[in-house]
Amino acid sequence: MRLLQTFSTSIGTKILIAVTGLGLTVFLLTHLAGNLLFLAGPDAFNRYAHTLTSNPLIYVAEAGLLAVFFVHIAKTLSNYLANRAARPVAYTTHRWAKTKNPASRKSWASTTMVVTGSIMALFVVTHLQTFKFGPVYEGADGIRDLYRLQMEIFGQPAYVVFYLMAMALIFSHLWHGIVSATQSLGWYHPQWTPRVIVAGRVLTALIAGGFFMIPIYTFLLSRSAQ
Ligand code: HEM
Repeated sequence: MRLLQTFSTSIGTKILIAVTGLGLTVFLLTHLAGNLLFLAGPDAFNRYAHTLTSNPLIYVAEAGLLAVFFVHIAKTLSNYLANRAARPVAYTTHRWAKTKNPASRKSWASTTMVVTGSIMALFVVTHLQTFKFGPVYEGADGIRDLYRLQMEIFGQPAYVVFYLMAMALIFSHLWHGIVSATQSLGWYHPQWTPRVIVAGRVLTALIAGGFFMIPIYTFLLSRSAQ
């Protein structure tokens, strides 16, 4: 009960947003690592997906992931609405809009967090429809041929463009989100904070860059296979 009350305060809300955001970043890293197996060919990719989905613990992991997504979105929205109610008129000009307030830490990425986050939530729904709940092709060894589905999807330029746009939003969201999360958790150190900021940006570039590369690679592969 006390814990629930703590997480309802403004500081508790920020901590929850930060912890769930970092959790989702870890998910993205592992998801990217699995998806990169696509480069190793149909056998490795389909086997990996089959091993993952045939493990009964996947249901526990999926329920946990859903809960983390839910808390992250619900807490971000409640924090956003509380901030708006407390400050109905914006008083800062943004750095990207040539601010008159040089002390402002606001950037294009930070002010669009709610927008990029909301579009990403919609992206995840269509993404699950396309892949997880998409057509099930059976491979030669009787397991799901996800490789074929991915070739079919990213063989279509419209999907490639859609995914690249979505990955650009993920880049923007993580660019601000990862660094902001470490600050919400109070990890401040005069020497280490600048390094943490650089590490957060490198991680962002790796995740978004990896996800950027996959649709393009698959598109080129599907064209050369024709
Ligand atoms: C090029 C980018 C991406 C590709 C090719 C890709 C591919 C896939 C595939 C093939 C699956 C189905 C796995 C299975 O059912 O066995 C999947 C599931 C999923 N993807 Fe992605 N993904 C990409 C980016 C993303 C991003 C950016 C997010 C989140 C923002 C995301 C979130 C998810 C989630 C939540 C699942 C369901 C996981 C589960 O239920 O176990 N994906 N993805």
